[in-house]
Amino acid sequence: MLDNTKWIIHPQNKLHEPVTFIKRLELSNKVKRATLKITSLGCYYATIDGERVGDFILAPGFTSRKRVQCQSYDVTKMLKQGSILEVTVGDGWYLGKINFNAPKTDKKALIAELEIVYKDGTHCLITTDQDWLVKKDKLRFAELYDGEIYDALFEDTPVNAQVYKHDKTLIVKQQGEYIKEQETLTPVSIFTAPNGDTIVDFGQNLTGYFEIELNASAGDRVAFTVCEELDKNGNFYNENYRDARACFEYICKDGYNKYKPRLAFWGFRYMRIDSFPVQITKDNIRAIVVHSSIKRTGYLDSSSPLLNKLFSNIIWGQRGNFLDIPTDCPQRDERQGWTGDATVFCKTASYNFDVERFFEKWLTDMSLDQGKTGYIPHVIPQTLAWDWATAETSGAVWGDSATIIPYQMYLTYASKHILKSQYPTMCRYIGYIESVTTDKYLWTGCGQFGDWLALDAHEGSYRGASSDDFIASVFYYNSVCILARTAKILGKGYKRHEAKAQKILSKIRATFPEPKTQTECTLSLYFGITEDKPTIAKRLADMIIENDTRLKTGFVGTPFLLHALSQNGYTELAYELLLQEKFPSWLYSVKQGATTIWEHWDGKNEKGEFWSRDMNSFNHYAYGSVADWVYEVACGIHTVESAPGFERVLISPTPTKKLAHLNAKLQTRHGTIISKWYNEGEKTHYEITTPVPATIIIDGKVYEKEEGTYHF
Ligand code: BGC
Repeated sequence: MLDNTKWIIHPQNKLHEPVTFIKRLELSNKVKRATLKITSLGCYYATIDGERVGDFILAPGFTSRKRVQCQSYDVTKMLKQGSILEVTVGDGWYLGKINFNAPKTDKKALIAELEIVYKDGTHCLITTDQDWLVKKDKLRFAELYDGEIYDALFEDTPVNAQVYKHDKTLIVKQQGEYIKEQETLTPVSIFTAPNGDTIVDFGQNLTGYFEIELNASAGDRVAFTVCEELDKNGNFYNENYRDARACFEYICKDGYNKYKPRLAFWGFRYMRIDSFPVQITKDNIRAIVVHSSIKRTGYLDSSSPLLNKLFSNIIWGQRGNFLDIPTDCPQRDERQGWTGDATVFCKTASYNFDVERFFEKWLTDMSLDQGKTGYIPHVIPQTLAWDWATAETSGAVWGDSATIIPYQMYLTYASKHILKSQYPTMCRYIGYIESVTTDKYLWTGCGQFGDWLALDAHEGSYRGASSDDFIASVFYYNSVCILARTAKILGKGYKRHEAKAQKILSKIRATFPEPKTQTECTLSLYFGITEDKPTIAKRLADMIIENDTRLKTGFVGTPFLLHALSQNGYTELAYELLLQEKFPSWLYSVKQGATTIWEHWDGKNEKGEFWSRDMNSFNHYAYGSVADWVYEVACGIHTVESAPGFERVLISPTPTKKLAHLNAKLQTRHGTIISKWYNEGEKTHYEITTPVPATIIIDGKVYEKEEGTYHF
C-alpha cells in the first residue's frame, strides 16, 4: 500500500511535541472523486481548510509495531482550488510513554496520498515528499498519559519536510472498528470542595475528553486535572493515576475560544479547575465519551435499582475500555491490552456489544506479537519492557486469551474465519506450555499471576491463595479442549488433542484431588475436574456461607463462581452473592457510588478510604464478567455449540423470588432474543421471544419451538 509515496518527518523531531504537515492543493480541473489514503507513526489529526477529515479519533489506532493501519477517506466534497491539507501528528501509542518498547530512533512520521479523479477523466496523485511544509503545532504537547497543552497564540514558521526511510511493508488496510465520539455529557454539578478547589462532576466515570467554550483575553489560561473519585473528605484525589499526569492546559486567544483535545484521552468523572479566566459554568464545559464504534446488542433490566446500576456500570466499564484494544483501565499509566482481563470478560463483552471485528483486529495483533517460542505476551500489543514482561513467558488465563477469545467469537457470532486465522497461534501457544512446564500433562513450575487480586491473598501479595499450578493446569486443559474442538470444526486432525486433554485431566485429578479455596472449588466444578461434584459444590457453598455469604475470589475465580454454584444446585446462593450488598460484593461498590466496575473489591472501604495508590483503578471491567451469568443462567439465554452465532438458541431461565422481575434482550445476527420473567404471588410468568428455532426449558419441561413469542 501507498507504494508511490514517502514517509516524511519534521527535521527537528521532538518527543511529545506534535508537528503539522501542510500541503496546498493545486487542482487543474473540476473534481469528480478524491480519496485520501493516510497513516502515521504516532496519531494523526487531518483537516482540509480547517475542517476535520473523517471522524476517526486517534487514528491510525493501536496495533503491534509490526503493522500500521492505513485509512481511506472520501474527501471529494472538501476540495477546492488552493485548499490547504494539514495533518498534525503526535506521539500516540506508537511513540508515547505507553509504548515502553518504542525504539528511541523512531520518529513521528506521516505518509499519505491524495488521489484525485477530475471530471475530464484525468487523474492526479498528490504524495507526501520533501515539498510538503511542516511546522510545530499550536498543540505544544500531546501525550496519552500526560494530556495536552494547546497554545492558541503560538505560531511557527514552516520548513520543508524531510523524507524518512522507514519500512512501508508495515502498512495494512484498516482492520479494526473506528474510534469515534459517542456521546456528550454536561456536568451534573460544579462545586467548591472542602479544601477550596473548584470541581466539575460529570456524574459518570468515562473515557474520552472534554470541550471548552469561553470568551477570554489573549494569554488567559485554562487548566484542568482529572480524577475518578473524591477522597473521604470530598476533595480531589488522583494518586491512583500514578505517573499519568492526566492534565490539560489551553492558552486562549482574544475573544471566542472553543477547543477539544485532538491527540489524547482521559479516564475521569471529576475535573479540578486549576485555572479558568472566568467563573466557570455548565455552559463552558462538556465531556465527550470516546470509544470504538461497537454496536450495543445486550440489555438487562431487573426490579432491583441497585442491580440495574450494576448492569449500567458493566456497560460503562466496557465503553471506557474498548478503545481500539481491550484495555485494563483507561486512566492510570497502563491502559494496556492486558490479556487476562480480556479473557475473563470476553463472553460478557460479546453479549453487551458486537465485538467480533474489534477482537478480530486485536487477535491479529496477538498473532503478530506472539513470541518465537509460542508465548503470548502479557499485553497485546506488546509494549512492556520491564524484566518480568520481557522474560518471554505467558501466564495461565492471560495467555489463554489465545484460545478462549477466538472460541467465544465462534460461539457468539459463528466466526469460523477467526478460528481459522487463530488456529496456528493456538497451536503454538500450547506448544509453548509444553516447552516450559516441569511436569508433562500439567502446567507447573512457572511464574503465574494466580487468582489475581483475590481476597484470600497473603499479606502484601496481589495473588490469591489458590494454587498457581492448579489454576495453570486447569486452563492448560481447557485450552487443549478448545484446540481439539477448533481442529474438529476446521476439519483438521483433532483426536490427538482430545487424547492429550484426557491425559491432562487424569493428571490434574491425580495431582490435585482436594480443591481448597473458593476459586479452586469453582474451577474444579466449572471445568469438570472433580468427579465428585456434590461434595465439592457443598464445600464451595459452605465456604461462602461461613464467610457470611460473601466471595473471596479474584480475576480467575469470579467469572465462573456463580456458574459453578447454579450448575450444581446452588442457584439461590448464586443469587445471594449477586445481590449481596455488604463488602465484598458487586453491589457494595454500587452502594459506594460506583459508576463503573472497580479493579479491587476493596477499592474504597466503608469509611471512604482508598485501598492503595499503587493499583486502584475504578474502571477495570474484569469483575463485570458476572453479566454473562445473568444473560445465560438468570435469563437463560445460551449459545448452542452445534449451531453457533445463535442460529439456534437454548433458553432456560432460572428465576428467583428475590427479584420481582428480570429481562434480557440480545440482538443477535439472526434477530432479537428476549427472555423475561416476573413473579406474581407464588407464580412465575415467562415471556420468551426467539427469532430462530429454540429449545426452551421451563421448570424442567422441554419445549421445541420455532421462531415466535411464547408465554409460560
Ligand atoms: C493490570 C491488570 C492486569 C495485571 C496483571 C495490572 O497492572 O491493571 O488488570 O491483568 O496487571 O498483572
